[in-house]
Amino acid sequence: MHIGFVKELTRQDMEDVVALLDQVALKEATNGYYEPLSSDLRQELMESINDGLKKGVCHVLIARNEAERIIGMITLEQQKLPAQKHIIAVKRCVIDDTYRGSMLLSQGLIDVLEKAKDLGCEQMILDVRSDGPVELWRRLGFQEYGRLEDYARIGGDVYCGVYMSASVRDLRALAGLSTDYPVPSLMM
Ligand SMILES: CC(C)(COP(=O)(O)OP(=O)(O)OC[C@H]1O[C@@H](n2cnc3c(N)ncnc32)[C@H](O)[C@@H]1OP(=O)(O)O)[C@@H](O)C(=O)NCCC(=O)NCCS
Repeated sequence: MHIGFVKELTRQDMEDVVALLDQVALKEATNGYYEPLSSDLRQELMESINDGLKKGVCHVLIARNEAERIIGMITLEQQKLPAQKHIIAVKRCVIDDTYRGSMLLSQGLIDVLEKAKDLGCEQMILDVRSDGPVELWRRLGFQEYGRLEDYARIGGDVYCGVYMSASVRDLRALAGLSTDYPVPSLMM
């Protein structure tokens, strides 16, 4: 098993990513999709991820198994506004069913925190359905800063969303990583 950031997603990678998202769509529906992705959505997703990778506005951490199949991913997006470049959002965090509970997320978070530091980001944000893994993020060091009752609509049901944030330095300290580095110039 190995983990790393990718420069682009190949067609095969994209098939693997779609399979991961489909798995969650059918089981938990906590990633915004609640049915297998249509071919239009697949195309749109692939173009937007690869476009974001090319422009450097999106960073994709991928975990692969021995057969090189993608078994986990996290997408990071640095905020675009000049005044908000110190904020990075965690999106599309998924681990294949059979590899869950294996510390993969903790391992991946180390890479995520190194990337956040390299990009000069000081705050990390994410949002999650209130019936999703909120406690997991809390345990990892995130704190809730708000809720949106009408966060997701699936069929006739409405789900609440929890907005969470953490200081990158605090997360790094919790993960045993160095916090002894200068405040990035983009913060000045
Ligand atoms: C979130 C995820 C990446 C975590 O993977 P992991 O680190 O291997 O962790 P696990 O799946 O073993 O879960 C870790 C803990 O989170 C909890 N958890 C995971 N998914 C949950 C959910 N949908 N609702 C509530 N709790 C959840 C587990 O019960 C477990 O709690 P425990 O340690 O007290 O037993 C994985 O569960 C996943 O891919 N989920 C589907 C996609 C998703 O919801 N992503 C997060 C969107 S913000």
